[in-house]
Amino acid sequence: MCGIVAAVTQRNIIDFLLESIQRLEYRGYDSSGLALINKNNNFIRVRCIGKVSQLIKKTKNKKLFGKIGLAHTRWATHGKVSEENTHPHISSHIAIVHNGIIENSFQLRLFLEKQGYIFYSDTDTEVIVHLLHWEQKKTGKSLLEAMHNSLIRLHGNYSMVVMDTHNSSRLIAVCSGSPLIIGLGIGENFIASDQIALLNITKRFIYLKEGDIAIVQPEQTQIFNKHNSIVQRKIIQSDVQYECVKKGKYKHYMEKEIYEQPTSIRNTLKHRLKNNKTIDFPELGVQEKNIFLHLEHIQIVACGTSYHAAMVSKHWFESIANIPCDVEVASEFSSRKLAVRKKSFFITLSQSGETADTLTALRISKKLGYLGNLTICNMKGSSLVQESDNCLLTKAGIEIGVASTKSFTTQLTVLLMLVAKIVSIKQKKNDIEKKIVKILNILPYRIEEILKKNQEIKNIAKKLYHTKNMIFLGRRDQYPIAMEGALKLKEISYIHAEAYPSGELKHGPLALIDKNIPIIITAPNNSLIEKTKKNIQEICSRGGLIYIFSDAEMNLEKNITLFKVPYVEEIIAPIFYIIPLQLLAYYIALSKGTNIDQPRNLAKSVTVE
Ligand code: F6R
Repeated sequence: MCGIVAAVTQRNIIDFLLESIQRLEYRGYDSSGLALINKNNNFIRVRCIGKVSQLIKKTKNKKLFGKIGLAHTRWATHGKVSEENTHPHISSHIAIVHNGIIENSFQLRLFLEKQGYIFYSDTDTEVIVHLLHWEQKKTGKSLLEAMHNSLIRLHGNYSMVVMDTHNSSRLIAVCSGSPLIIGLGIGENFIASDQIALLNITKRFIYLKEGDIAIVQPEQTQIFNKHNSIVQRKIIQSDVQYECVKKGKYKHYMEKEIYEQPTSIRNTLKHRLKNNKTIDFPELGVQEKNIFLHLEHIQIVACGTSYHAAMVSKHWFESIANIPCDVEVASEFSSRKLAVRKKSFFITLSQSGETADTLTALRISKKLGYLGNLTICNMKGSSLVQESDNCLLTKAGIEIGVASTKSFTTQLTVLLMLVAKIVSIKQKKNDIEKKIVKILNILPYRIEEILKKNQEIKNIAKKLYHTKNMIFLGRRDQYPIAMEGALKLKEISYIHAEAYPSGELKHGPLALIDKNIPIIITAPNNSLIEKTKKNIQEICSRGGLIYIFSDAEMNLEKNITLFKVPYVEEIIAPIFYIIPLQLLAYYIALSKGTNIDQPRNLAKSVTVE
């Protein structure tokens, strides 16, 4: 949700800023801008609405030069998409870029207007920069002190970077509820909201912690914690390859990420399967394993695609491990008075580890007496990882496409391993664990097999891309897959799609059925297939158009298209059946010509509530 890049160097940084901010475009792409301090110690600012490519065009013949600068790509929250609302914002000698929301900005704006400040935008960001200016002018002290004083007045979650023409060899960064990292160079240092922006320049990162303020100069950085004491934060050597963030032979990141899933799952399993027989999570301490022994309930909280993965795991926790499990959307969990079950363990699921709703839920859960907590996350060093007692990384690799794909299947992989581990700990025997390990080892090969059937999916997509509405159906552990399939389609093709449990169709939605609403059904050949076949009949007899994804034999009536799914072990069917639905959404969006990697109105990591 908004991307920030900043640099303080000994060289001209314009190309770096443009290239890096373009790599953060997945965080928001309503508008973008940058500011530099030039040789005459003045701000040069360029902003425009639309994608970063517009900003690149606009800066092209300007011969810009600056050794210190900020850039920003915006996902609008306060104020419409316009050039005036685009960052950076400036107040006299201070410029700022900001991510997050200042909840009391309206009151602060009124106060600052009374002090004579004129606002040129509708943003909460301009409030911060004027407040900083007012604080500094009032006390006559340093910008750092003005920052400390201003932060006391700001309510909300945010991260920001400021630069100052009165001291043009230093950036000040603040991290409070929204991520910021410092990239360490040689004689130059960088700041960004995500390491992807800096990977071509450094592999050494410092993840700022909640409440940190950093002063970043070309040769050094100094970090103050929320108690205003100087602290040393760990330097992390990133193992992410710059090549990973390139599209390679693929048209879109989403396409690349769908096809990467066998590799991502192999990476998720690597070093966690002992002698290929049992599961080991070296990340979890002995104490945690003790908690697993005693837990009697699991509460999982997540958003979007991660929520759908949690819903699949509810079925696994209850049917395989016999542990009651509740799953809730994070924003709902945080909005109500909660009654916590006895001996309950709290789990969050997140690709980014920065989703504000999920973070808030975690913070609330800590006051509610859960036995402990664990996050299953793709981003090492993210806020959720830092704030959770325990973490299992999904190791999907960097996911850039806004619509999640490989993060979903790797979350499911980790969840299934976790279920298996807990069963062994609780039942003190590991036959189920051994069986699951065997099946998980086969999973990447099974996915490779279904990915090869892409031409068939392309053919179905050609028949469906002009449709306006679709319904997705699934039963039991396939219902979350129907929800995830519908979400993928909505996100990238803008086709309205609804998901229902197959058995629920006759309780209302059947009224919608006609030849204009294609119905997508995922139906593995298991104990539920006969019930699903009855549902198919109900739709057929009302003239509905049906697309079935199944390994079962079907009576193919004229309105039915069957995509024959290769056989897969029942337990991993949810991980497997989402693959053709991801491909279907992708090829439909491709036929429609939408912006697949950056769908309208969305951003990859949602750092506002
Ligand atoms: C869907 C999608 C979103 C995210 C949701 C949670 O394709 O990407 O629905 O799943 O915003 O994000 P994370 O998993 O980063 O917490």
